[in-house]
Amino acid sequence: MTDLPDELSTDEIIRSLASGAPTTWLRSTGTEAALPEFGEVMDSAAARFDRFASWFATTFPETATVPAELASAFPETDGGMIESALVPAPAAQHRLVDLFGSEITGQLWLKRDDSLPVSGSIKARGGFHEVLEFAEAIAAEHGVDAHDPAAYSSRRFSEIAANHRIVVGSTGNLGLSIGILSARLGFAASVHMSADAREWKKTMLRDHGVGVIEHAGDFVEAVEAGRASAEADENTHFVDDEDSVSLFAGYSVAALRLQQQFAAAGVTIDEQNPLTVYLPCGIGGGPGGVTFGLKRVFGPAVRCVFVEPSQAPAMFLGVRTGRHSGISVQDIGLTGATAADGLAVARPSRFIGPTIGPLISGFATVPDEVIRAGVGVLHETEGVDVEPSATAGLTIPWRMGTATGETSAGVHLVWLTGGAMVPADERAAYLDEGRGLVDRISSTASAIFTD
Ligand SMILES: Cc1ncc(COP(=O)(O)O)c(C=O)c1O
Repeated sequence: MTDLPDELSTDEIIRSLASGAPTTWLRSTGTEAALPEFGEVMDSAAARFDRFASWFATTFPETATVPAELASAFPETDGGMIESALVPAPAAQHRLVDLFGSEITGQLWLKRDDSLPVSGSIKARGGFHEVLEFAEAIAAEHGVDAHDPAAYSSRRFSEIAANHRIVVGSTGNLGLSIGILSARLGFAASVHMSADAREWKKTMLRDHGVGVIEHAGDFVEAVEAGRASAEADENTHFVDDEDSVSLFAGYSVAALRLQQQFAAAGVTIDEQNPLTVYLPCGIGGGPGGVTFGLKRVFGPAVRCVFVEPSQAPAMFLGVRTGRHSGISVQDIGLTGATAADGLAVARPSRFIGPTIGPLISGFATVPDEVIRAGVGVLHETEGVDVEPSATAGLTIPWRMGTATGETSAGVHLVWLTGGAMVPADERAAYLDEGRGLVDRISSTASAIFTD
């Protein structure tokens, strides 16, 4: 283990993280201070998605009708909705009770962002939103009616868009979301991919006509390269995953939708029946935006827990030390490498920790073995196939339940963040590996710290 700088070595939580051991930090989050700062970004992002619904419905026929599992929550929607189902997961809960040898009082639910339309991950929420916001700005700048969805299918808009480029750095899924949507709107697009990005994600993007630039380094390097290339070019928009309010706003819309989904399912979320949400975390943008939205919607009745791989706890480290993007996991001797490719991030977002940090109720790290095993459990119990990153939160309700009995009541919502686009052969390999590890899912003890 690397020697920790003196000021960090006195912190037992950092020592636990640095050892690579699964670590949990549960916090009391009294403050709502960050909430007003972003004004109405969530509502205006929701309105933007509504404006584009008819464009999605015609451009991506798979979104043309509202799927049965969403229809009762969104009776007024015709189609073109980028949303995923909210489902109870009694079979997974039963299996995990067996595997852990302990009950949780509440109910396990899953948020199925693994099957969000068009790009199959939570990144569709933020990524699509930023591309749509840029499209509206470009339309307005060129005298096209930005609020007319039909305008985006016009020859005039395609000609304008072809003259503009969208650039992003990504571990994979953000690139897929931005790339696919940009290409459909007619923009030129370049995605800078880190070494962790899966080959099939690059191939899929190239098939959509998106330029893929491969980097041998990690995610931070890919983002830097993307930023530098965009600075040099005039008609170029850089999607800055380290610092973007537009991505953030897009993710936050999930909360408004979730409120309708719980209501339609007849589940009241309040202090008697609180909601605990387990969010896989990479740079922190996705879980940060969702947390902001959920706190706006459910207030103190919701608690959000960010879950990261043991070797890549970027947000955990940034918030715990207060150094945010000024510290990386390598600074405490961790590798940053993980089987959860979407979460392979060594340094957190510049803006999520400082603003949303106080709203995060807990952080947890999980070893790769547990992340992989989660793929097996979800397949065997719920028939749900996801990519490894998506399972990060699955075991945390049990970990927290063992720590403090009171945390186990209410609704435990595990946010499944990616999977639908995974090709069949990769999926089979994830499953094989995951099913072989199921019995080990509960074997790793976690250090738990509460304040
Ligand atoms: C499947 C999946 N889950 C979770 C995340 C984490 O999102 P963020 O990096 O915004 O924290 C990502 C990021 O790419 C992802 O691909």
